[in-house]
Parts: sequence; C-alpha cells; structure tokens
Amino acid sequence: MISFKDVKKRFDSNVVLDGFSLDVHDGETMVILGYSGTGKSVALKHIVGLLEPDSGQVEVDEQIVHMLDRDGLTQLRSNVGYVFQSSALFDSMTVTENLKLGLKRQRLSDAEIRDRVAASLALVDMEGTEDRFPAELSGGMRKRVGIARAIALHPRYILYDEPTTGLDPVTSAVINQLMIRTREKLGVTGIVVTHDLESAYMVGDRIAMLYHGRIRQVGPVEEIRRTHDPVVRQFLDGRPEAAAEADSGMFRAFR
Ligand SMILES: Nc1ncnc2c1ncn2[C@@H]1O[C@H](COP(=O)(O)OP(=O)(O)O)[C@@H](O)[C@H]1O
Ligand SMILES: [Mg+2]
Repeated sequence: MISFKDVKKRFDSNVVLDGFSLDVHDGETMVILGYSGTGKSVALKHIVGLLEPDSGQVEVDEQIVHMLDRDGLTQLRSNVGYVFQSSALFDSMTVTENLKLGLKRQRLSDAEIRDRVAASLALVDMEGTEDRFPAELSGGMRKRVGIARAIALHPRYILYDEPTTGLDPVTSAVINQLMIRTREKLGVTGIVVTHDLESAYMVGDRIAMLYHGRIRQVGPVEEIRRTHDPVVRQFLDGRPEAAAEADSGMFRAFR
C-alpha cells in the first residue's frame, strides 16, 4: 500500500501540498486528477524519495520513504516503476540499453535481463525496436518504451505521470489499453496522474481530485462521475479553475 499522511510541501512561499492524505490499496489503479500546476507530479515524486515532505510522511509498504537510507531507497525504487511525463529516455542509448539501465541494480543474469527486456517490449507491442534510438521513435512509441522500462523491473507499483498528455486520441487509447493490460498481466498497483478524463474513466478504479494542496474528493470512478461537489463537477465538466473557485465560494456561503 502507498499512503500519503498529511503531507505538506512548499517551495519558498508557494504552498503546493497542504495536508495531502491518500491511501492507494494493493491491486487498484488510483487516478489523481487536478488542474495543471496543482502538485500532481510533486506528489508522485514523494513516493520514490525525489522530494521530501516539510511535514507528514509517505509510506510505501509501511516504510516511511523519507526515513530510508540509500540502500533502502534503492530497494524501494526497484519496486516502483516510474513513467515520467517526458518519457525521460536517454537519447544516446538504444531502446534495449535504456531498458537494461534500470535492471543493472537488480542482481540478474545476462539471460534474465535479455528475457525481461524482450518480454517487456512484447507487452507494449514494441518488438523490433530493440536497437532503435529514442529520437527515431514517435512520441507514442517513446511513451511505450517508458512503460516497458518500468515493467521490466517487475515492480509492485507503477506511477504514470500524465501518460496520455500530448498524444493524439488514437495513441492515447493505445496507452490506456497498455496500462490496463499491465495491471491485468502483472497485477501491479498503479497511480495515474492526469487531467485526461477519458483516460481516468477508462483505467481508474478510484479517482482522487487534488485541489488546493489536498484531496478534495476520492471515490470509485462511477461515484466521482456523478459527484455534486462543485469543484470536482466544474473540473469534470471542463470549466476553468476560476469558475470552480467562484462556485466553491458560493457553496461555502450556502452552508
Ligand atoms: N523542484 C521544484 N522547485 C520549485 N518549485 C517546484 C518544483 N517542483 C514543482 N514546483 C512547483 O510546484 C507546483 C506544482 O507543480 P507540479 O507538481 O509539477 O504540478 P502538476 O500538477 O501540473 O504536476 C508548481 O507551482 C511548480 O512550479
Ligand atoms: Mg505534472
């Protein structure tokens, strides 16, 4: 289980997370929705110790992430695949080399590494691209390689940061299918950070909306789709944040 407990994080005067609490249960895919710049990526980075909370804590399998030593962090990171928004592939390395990189820290034989790379690329339908360089691939293909790199670790968790942002609808649908397949085939627990509603509805078991540094509402997809919370409603209906603000103020005034 991944558990955020009252996490607060600010950068100078910019308060980003302000009492962020959320439990992600084993086997589920949790979607975190939110306007851009609200701290979705910041939240994900806390899970793998790329950022530390000012207060509160993030726990992965009951371990407090910011208390882990270097070895503990390495161990944690081999259990958590991270699909970065930018794909974050190394341009000077082939697809195979990119996939092998994350595996080097796990004590595997050459044969095991070869098998892992081949199986991961097959799972994302990218066989045949082993010796290609990222620059030779389309955005959607790079995204798939990013997913394959995460899968190759055989992680318990995969974090997807805006997996469909910037992709055309057809490619987005492919990526959504891959996330579902990954979960079905490998049984991984997923967190998907996105503002793509179609993707959220398709891949999520539960949806949590991040708003003003904390979770505004969390629940099963169907419950969130029918929500009467004005802030969440505005987001789902595709209205800008300013409108949600005004509505939220009105909502408070009526209570
Ligand atoms: N390393 C950092 N240093 C300073 N500010 C940061 C850093 N990372 C993120 N921020 C700020 O935190 C806020 C939330 O960013 P982010 O989590 O990337 O938003 P998003 O929800 O779009 O993923 C933004 O205002 C961003 O500028
Ligand atoms: Mg982000």
